[in-house]
Amino acid sequence: MARQGCHATAASEAVRLITPGRGRAVRRNPQGKLGPESRGLSLALSRVGGMPEILSFPTPPTRPIAAEFFAGIGLARMGLEAAGFHVTWANDIERDKHDMYVRHFKDPANSHTFALGDVANVHGEDLPKGLSLAWASFPCTDLSLAGWRRGLIGKQSSTFWPFTEVLEELRAEKPPVVALENVIGLATSHGGKDLAAAIERLNDLGYSVDVLTLDARRFVPQSRPRLFLVGALTPPSEQDELPNELRPEWLSRVFADSSLRTHRALLKKNPPQLLVTGLSELVEDLPSDDVRWWDELRRNRFLNSLSPLQAERLRQMQRSPRASYRTAYRRTRNGVAMWEIRPDDISGCLRTAKGGSSKQAVVRAGDGRVEVRWMTPREYAFLMGADSYDLEGVRTNQALYGFGDAVCVPAIAWLAEHYLMPLVEDALRPALPLAARLVRA
Ligand SMILES: C[S@@+](CC[C@H](N)C(=O)[O-])C[C@H]1O[C@@H](n2cnc3c(N)ncnc32)[C@H](O)[C@@H]1O
Repeated sequence: MARQGCHATAASEAVRLITPGRGRAVRRNPQGKLGPESRGLSLALSRVGGMPEILSFPTPPTRPIAAEFFAGIGLARMGLEAAGFHVTWANDIERDKHDMYVRHFKDPANSHTFALGDVANVHGEDLPKGLSLAWASFPCTDLSLAGWRRGLIGKQSSTFWPFTEVLEELRAEKPPVVALENVIGLATSHGGKDLAAAIERLNDLGYSVDVLTLDARRFVPQSRPRLFLVGALTPPSEQDELPNELRPEWLSRVFADSSLRTHRALLKKNPPQLLVTGLSELVEDLPSDDVRWWDELRRNRFLNSLSPLQAERLRQMQRSPRASYRTAYRRTRNGVAMWEIRPDDISGCLRTAKGGSSKQAVVRAGDGRVEVRWMTPREYAFLMGADSYDLEGVRTNQALYGFGDAVCVPAIAWLAEHYLMPLVEDALRPALPLAARLVRA
């Protein structure tokens, strides 16, 4: 596939000039200067009696630099930065998401590059120098149980391959750690062959790979299990037991496959337990006369589509003196659209709302009443742990689409704090003995 230059935009609009083809991106952004600082080591040397001496060490701590591929609206960045990373580069193909991203982060000019365009057009030379981490939440469309499961050859999920080409182009400048995120369907796609192929490719690039799963529901009242691949040029020495919360039995065969180079990092902390409640506290408490509640006609269509079991579930809620909330989603059974109400105080997995069929509704029932409406963008933001996300001027469908496709911020922050950051720190540590040697000299 021809790989052409991407467009760098927003804060960095004036930063890169793009030429087509395998083209040169003429970079005026001084990000290259971040290299040595990103290693957390800044030495001022002088010569005393012909011997080097450290004048100032350490300098104020600097944050390891990360790049996010498939950045979407930037929720991976929010999680990574909460754990101390500095995300200075992002790529995504969709302008609507890019627009939300730059509107939210408001990066000062020259401090961040958003390369808007196909990842197939990104080159190693486009990335910041001194990169410690590359994050890639590549598209799940062909891996999701809800789709056709074309896997890593599918139109969307095959974007994994050009991402790895960028890593290859980085050669010795490859980040010591890479992290990939996708749906858990990646583990079973084509009978496990897709996951094995992804690990093999990362192995070829020099990375040992860990595979683990984490559900956003450990942090927010949304069921959103996801699979994470963590590649390390230098894998951690301490290995975890199998199976466990992060690597359940169904992942065992990956680690048992002797043709793959894998590891299982022993993390210092377990993730929090799965939440069993929380949605009702998080939803927006809209007054009954808010126009977003559906009118009678639409509400009756909703009620009439419920199965007897669903209708009874709703009647029970309705009989309670206190209003409670549930999420509902539409399924098509034998060509007929039917609504299903979740039985618990947890939201179903938010999805991309293209075409509207995967949007979730919120049901409020109690004291004899039943009200139904679509979930609001602010509720999507809450459910993704992105409470502070700037939604000013964002169209509703743009927001729902952006959030439905995104990662859960506290889940990424947890992984980054307890796994990625220690791994990166370990990888950068070999610089220290040099300093020690200089002091001793
Ligand atoms: C699972 S989402 C990742 C969302 C992101 N982590 C976030 O927090 O918003 C996958 C992203 O890949 C982007 N994408 C799809 N095809 C792409 C391509 N060929 N090049 C670059 N980005 C692409 C989509 O626009 C989408 O935002």
